[in-house]
Amino acid sequence: MKEAVKQNMRRPVVAGNWKMNLSRAEAAALVETIKPAVTLDESVEVVLCPPYTALSHVHDELRRSNIQVGAQNVFWERSGAFTGQVSVPMLRDAGCTYCIVGHSEARGSFGILETHEGSLSYFAETDRTVGYKVRALLDFGIIPIVCVGETESERGSGQTEGVIDKQLEGALGTLDEAEMGSVVVAYEPVWAIGTGKTCESEEANRICAFIREKIGEHADAESAEDLRVLYGGSVKPNNARELFAQSDIDGGLVGGASLDGPGFVHIIRAAQGNFLR
Ligand code: 13P
Repeated sequence: MKEAVKQNMRRPVVAGNWKMNLSRAEAAALVETIKPAVTLDESVEVVLCPPYTALSHVHDELRRSNIQVGAQNVFWERSGAFTGQVSVPMLRDAGCTYCIVGHSEARGSFGILETHEGSLSYFAETDRTVGYKVRALLDFGIIPIVCVGETESERGSGQTEGVIDKQLEGALGTLDEAEMGSVVVAYEPVWAIGTGKTCESEEANRICAFIREKIGEHADAESAEDLRVLYGGSVKPNNARELFAQSDIDGGLVGGASLDGPGFVHIIRAAQGNFLR
């Protein structure tokens, strides 16, 4: 394990993706356990991403703290006859400053698992729709957390870099340099999500460095250097420190472990300990 503290100009992010979990009361109780950890040390940006139903409640609970609120998805049109959808202005109204887009659980056939045959294809996100969402979010000053990552079979057939390059191009291909500065990318290998199988920290770092290199090609070297690239996929209290110590990993997008207050605080502490103030 690398113990060295990184000299890093990129302020790290630890984001909790609560997925389809927690009532408003449960969310408020979780927030209470997390708040003190961030009040004492602001070196890491902490973002909580509750389901839509708890967004504005969590935002209210977080007043007088520096913790940010993020949504888990969005639709790109501003308003209209789009039953079941939530727009960017609505997210602003609920207090969001971040929004996850392109999560594999929302990307069409991308994340299909045999045990959930077909279920993930109901959502049908594509690289192109991720791009529309990124554009709509940036227009309203909300920071997109763009998820990219390969399935197990894509990794097995040597397609990891090709898949990620295509996802980056679809999501970020039209952005100018200034806009690129307002984006966070999360590398989430599909096979590591919710499985307890974490990508080895050095391999995760290699892919995060690849993402940075590709952004350098699509945009410019400075945007690439400033880009915050997170790792997501079974980040836990016992592996966070090693992952966050890697040179190209600027924090984490945490699923299951973000639902446990003390465990999530431990993960935040791991990020705080790995970066210079
Ligand atoms: P887990 O941390 O539960 O593997 O989920 C990761 C994830 O999907 C975060 O967006």
